[in-house]
Amino acid sequence: MASTLGSAQLLSILLFLILQFVSGFIINEDKYKRQVFLELNPGLNSSITPPPGVSLLHVRAVGANDTLHYFFCSLGAPALLLVHTNSSSSSVKVDWLRFLSGNASSLQVEPKSSVQYSNALIFTRLWEYEDANDTADPQHLPPSSFFPPYELQDFTWGDLSETMNATSKTAKLCGGDSGPSFSNGSFCLQISAFGSGGRDHDWPRLLHNANSSQIKVWLDGVTARSNKSRFSLELQTVGRSDLPSRVDVLRSIDDEYTPSIFQVVQWVASPVNSTSPVLGYTQWKPVAYRTASPNGYQTSGLNVTFGISGDPFYSATNYLSWTLLVGLGSPPADSFSPMVMGIIAVGLGTPLLLILVGGICVCVRKREAKPLAYEPIN
Ligand SMILES: *[C@@H]1O[C@H](CO)[C@@H](O)[C@H](O)[C@H]1NC(C)=O
Ligand SMILES: *[C@@H]1O[C@H](CO)[C@@H](O)[C@H](O)[C@H]1NC(C)=O
Ligand SMILES: *[C@@H]1O[C@H](CO)[C@@H](O)[C@H](O)[C@H]1NC(C)=O
Ligand SMILES: *[C@@H]1O[C@H](CO)[C@@H](O)[C@H](O)[C@H]1NC(C)=O
Ligand SMILES: *[C@@H]1O[C@H](CO)[C@@H](O)[C@H](O)[C@H]1NC(C)=O
Ligand SMILES: *[C@@H]1O[C@H](CO)[C@@H](O)[C@H](O)[C@H]1NC(C)=O
Ligand SMILES: *[C@@H]1O[C@H](CO)[C@@H](O)[C@H](O)[C@H]1NC(C)=O
Ligand SMILES: *[C@@H]1O[C@H](CO)[C@@H](O)[C@H](O)[C@H]1NC(C)=O
Ligand SMILES: *[C@@H]1O[C@H](CO)[C@@H](O)[C@H](O)[C@H]1NC(C)=O
Ligand SMILES: *[C@@H]1O[C@H](CO)[C@@H](O)[C@H](O)[C@H]1NC(C)=O
Ligand SMILES: *[C@@H]1O[C@H](CO)[C@@H](O)[C@H](O)[C@H]1NC(C)=O
Repeated sequence: MASTLGSAQLLSILLFLILQFVSGFIINEDKYKRQVFLELNPGLNSSITPPPGVSLLHVRAVGANDTLHYFFCSLGAPALLLVHTNSSSSSVKVDWLRFLSGNASSLQVEPKSSVQYSNALIFTRLWEYEDANDTADPQHLPPSSFFPPYELQDFTWGDLSETMNATSKTAKLCGGDSGPSFSNGSFCLQISAFGSGGRDHDWPRLLHNANSSQIKVWLDGVTARSNKSRFSLELQTVGRSDLPSRVDVLRSIDDEYTPSIFQVVQWVASPVNSTSPVLGYTQWKPVAYRTASPNGYQTSGLNVTFGISGDPFYSATNYLSWTLLVGLGSPPADSFSPMVMGIIAVGLGTPLLLILVGGICVCVRKREAKPLAYEPIN
């Protein structure tokens, strides 16, 4: 009897350890928090009026001893600039006259000595190509398959002040050109800033943390120039020359957040010697698109191609969207989702529970059996 109880205890300890292990995965979220402030056109006063469609959004994500500054701007091609400082009181100074004339050094984060890392992501061109053979592989198409690209710096952009939402910490920038394709359509970018870790509500439900912000890009209602049109977006990154960027394609986890998506692509900036940590990144899941760049490619420009072979062409829905995460430090990596962990827990736990219950039953039956043997006969 003692040995039965002992194994039951052992099993309950095992079960407890498994539950600990499972909850460890579930609770294994980044606890770092930041206070997020949105500000439009910092330092602009009535003496200067920017031209229509030009605005600068400044997001300040203040941590305990550091600040992440994001600048989202529609002067020229849309761009997201990330600046990390080691001070929680760093501020921004914009020389508006020079800024509006396109001089990048007109935007300063002060004190200058506090700046630890900076990187810019620029959305330069939207390419459209006729994918006649449905290969979704623009790298191997003849130049004649490409339509003239849409230069995003020539687009007319909406006003960020109308779309900025300080509650949800988002702002949306939509634009188009005067050509017939965009007469009923638009190309939009929405930035979301985060003060803590979590996962986006919208598919592909990228994981984020307090050190990242998210950009969703979509192309809605644009008239395609062929019946078999696909699009790709050209991005440029500008950073320190000693921090070359490269594209890594990682295996990810197939869970309920992004079923059947096994890859995460990240465009990282890290010092030449790869043993050093990654300083910043742009990350996305290849959901219905592919990158033209191979793994490990060192680059400062990149075409992201939407659609895979066999996918409907753009004209099927006249809509496509894409989400990417921009941030500091190492990109967030998916761990098993609570649902998957739950399944594992049930899968592992149930047999153990059955053994445990079985053990108790045996124990109880033995107990019941013993008094019977000594029952006095009346
Ligand atoms: C606007 O700002 C500039 C410098 O930022 C300053 O010189 C000027 O006096 C300000 N004008 C007003 C009306 O506040
Ligand atoms: C912030 O800096 C203070 C003083 O330099 C230090 O005591 C504290 O641990 C730091 N906090 C974090 C989260 O690094
Ligand atoms: C930007 O402004 C700085 C400081 O006034 C100047 O040295 C630099 O030449 C300007 N750059 C351009 C491209 O105009
Ligand atoms: C911030 O970093 C600079 C060097 O980049 C360093 O000189 C300075 O002491 C740091 N400040 C704090 C508060 O850590
Ligand atoms: C499509 O496939 C045909 C036959 O394989 C080939 O001759 C043609 O060049 C391809 N077209 C393009 C645009 O790749
Ligand atoms: C801002 O976002 C909040 C939260 O998502 C939402 O409830 C609110 O309606 C939004 N405000 C505007 C003006 O869209
Ligand atoms: C834009 O929409 C209007 C009304 O729905 C339609 O008449 C027009 O043909 C459309 N233009 C293009 C270029 O699709
Ligand atoms: C976010 O940045 C802060 C400050 O640099 C750091 O302490 C924290 O570990 C970072 N979190 C992640 C998930 O990278
Ligand atoms: C698209 O297909 C339709 C019918 O299949 C055809 O009438 C039309 O000319 C095509 N448009 C283009 C741009 O190829
Ligand atoms: C990287 O490593 C190589 C050899 O290991 C060394 O020669 C080079 O100086 C290193 N570069 C940097 C930037 O540290
Ligand atoms: C993107 O694709 C277009 C068309 O193939 C090409 O001209 C351009 O150089 C590519 N851009 C980058 C950054 O690779």
